[in-house]
Amino acid sequence: MTASTFTPAPWPRKLRSQEWYGGNSRDTIYHRGWLKNQGYPHDLFDGRPIIGIMNTWSDLTPCNGHLRDLAEKVKAGIWEAGGFPVEVPVFSASENTFRPSAMMFRNLAALSIEETIRGQPIDGCVLMVGCDKTTPSLLMAAASCDVPSIVVTGGPMLNGSFRGERVGSGTHLWKFSEDVKAGKMTQEEFLEAEQSMSRSTGTCNTMGTASTMASMAEALGMALSGNAAIPAVDSRRRVMAQMSGRRIVQMVKDDLKPSDIMTKQAFENAIRTNGAIGGSTNAVVHLLAIAGRVGVDLTLDDWDRCGRDVATIVNLMPSGEYLMEEFFYAGGLPVVIKNLGECGQLHKDALTVSGQTIWDEVRDVRNWNEDVIRPVDHALTEQGGIAVLRGNLAPNGAVLKPSAASAHLLTHRGRAIVFEDIDDYKTRINDETLDIDETCIMVLKNCGPKGYPGMAEVGNMGLPPKVLRKGVTDMVRISDARMSGTAYGTVVLHTAPEAAAGGPLGVVQSGDMIELDVPNRRLHLDISDAELKARLAAWKPRHEIVTSGYAYLHQNHVGGADTGADLDFLKGCRGNAVGKDSH
Ligand code: FES
Repeated sequence: MTASTFTPAPWPRKLRSQEWYGGNSRDTIYHRGWLKNQGYPHDLFDGRPIIGIMNTWSDLTPCNGHLRDLAEKVKAGIWEAGGFPVEVPVFSASENTFRPSAMMFRNLAALSIEETIRGQPIDGCVLMVGCDKTTPSLLMAAASCDVPSIVVTGGPMLNGSFRGERVGSGTHLWKFSEDVKAGKMTQEEFLEAEQSMSRSTGTCNTMGTASTMASMAEALGMALSGNAAIPAVDSRRRVMAQMSGRRIVQMVKDDLKPSDIMTKQAFENAIRTNGAIGGSTNAVVHLLAIAGRVGVDLTLDDWDRCGRDVATIVNLMPSGEYLMEEFFYAGGLPVVIKNLGECGQLHKDALTVSGQTIWDEVRDVRNWNEDVIRPVDHALTEQGGIAVLRGNLAPNGAVLKPSAASAHLLTHRGRAIVFEDIDDYKTRINDETLDIDETCIMVLKNCGPKGYPGMAEVGNMGLPPKVLRKGVTDMVRISDARMSGTAYGTVVLHTAPEAAAGGPLGVVQSGDMIELDVPNRRLHLDISDAELKARLAAWKPRHEIVTSGYAYLHQNHVGGADTGADLDFLKGCRGNAVGKDSH
């Protein structure tokens, strides 16, 4: 759908919430009367849009800890526009606390929120998100129900600072941790640095997964222009929340739905935006999953095709040097999207939640700092998109982020040092007798969607101390895991099929030679076809199969990373038809 082909629905008309609150039947009085215990006047049930503020606030999701306060501004905007706001707490998968990994619960969150929307009198949604998995899980749920929805992110934290150095969330956690192992930093200094990392409420201040997914929501057209970069504590974040509250009411009246906005063109805009910002590899699995919910045929090949010629121009950690605060001051994501448009890399007429085209939203913005948002002829990386690798080691694909990798390792042949799972890695990596040097390729198995379970962010394995002491900071690493968006290195991720599903990664042995050829998109295990076949025939799963609880459901139904790692029975849009009344 484009802005020129979208036709707003006639207004007034009967909304789905009137199935609960319209008329004067016994059931209506049951639904309406009980809600009136909150003190709502009778005329609020006159057929105006009821907006669910789907809030991922939680004390245990600290990145979203301020969303309950921010929701008050959303409510103000909804009231102003003649809507009726209802705040609904929803499943909140915190990146920094959930075990075994927040990713394992992205799909559970999406499922629970989908049913929360469908089963209740909600005409439109404000998706209040921030921390990594909260953004995709709510977008997946909204796509599955296809009710008008708008994203409001909580915004990033202010810059961190330690002894005069700019400190980025996550990025410096990995760096300082390696410095301690290499003897460049003491444990006491590390603890002192901890205090400097999180100076305010908000999400990680690097171009990690949270900032990336906020940018993806904006590039998809699902958030108002400029939403992604405003710091959590900036007063303009509160204005954005209020404006979004106003806007969702009109979206409901117009019946402007996720399926109208999240078209194939919108996903291609988002993929190119991801290349331009040097965004997280996690966006690959999340966008594939969201596309699957809204019925758009998006593949790994689209990622490679669309990202190939996109230059990374945003100079933010982990690929660059600045943080989200400076990105906002430079003009934020609208400047990047405008740049894509000027380079012929944007579907300009893609529709957004504003009802305008994406180009209309950005055509007049200016870049206020060309060191933070670089001109294309001074880009960080000329080809910044996600590289999709294939070969006998990854028949269904694997991904690598060139802007976070070392140029000299993008073409590399090395001896495999295999870790059978993350526990094996932790047990042996600090062993000084481990036969490893910087030319080797570290291989980690059994950390994919089924394997870990939940595809944890462990793909950027720390290097062995004896290599770090030589001053080496990067080695080629290959796994079926994910990597934090704040991490960096020559790290091949999402290798599919994963080891736990019987993929070739599961039969690599220490001493095998592996060839990585990013320019030619190749990942090759240098053994004969016959040997590979024999090893695969003899392969046995390493871990016991879970037999109960959500982990059972997850392991039995999760798909590969190459298709978004969604549960197989949740693909496709199931709509928002109102079910039978139970009373
Ligand atoms: Fe929550 Fe980074 S850990 S945004």
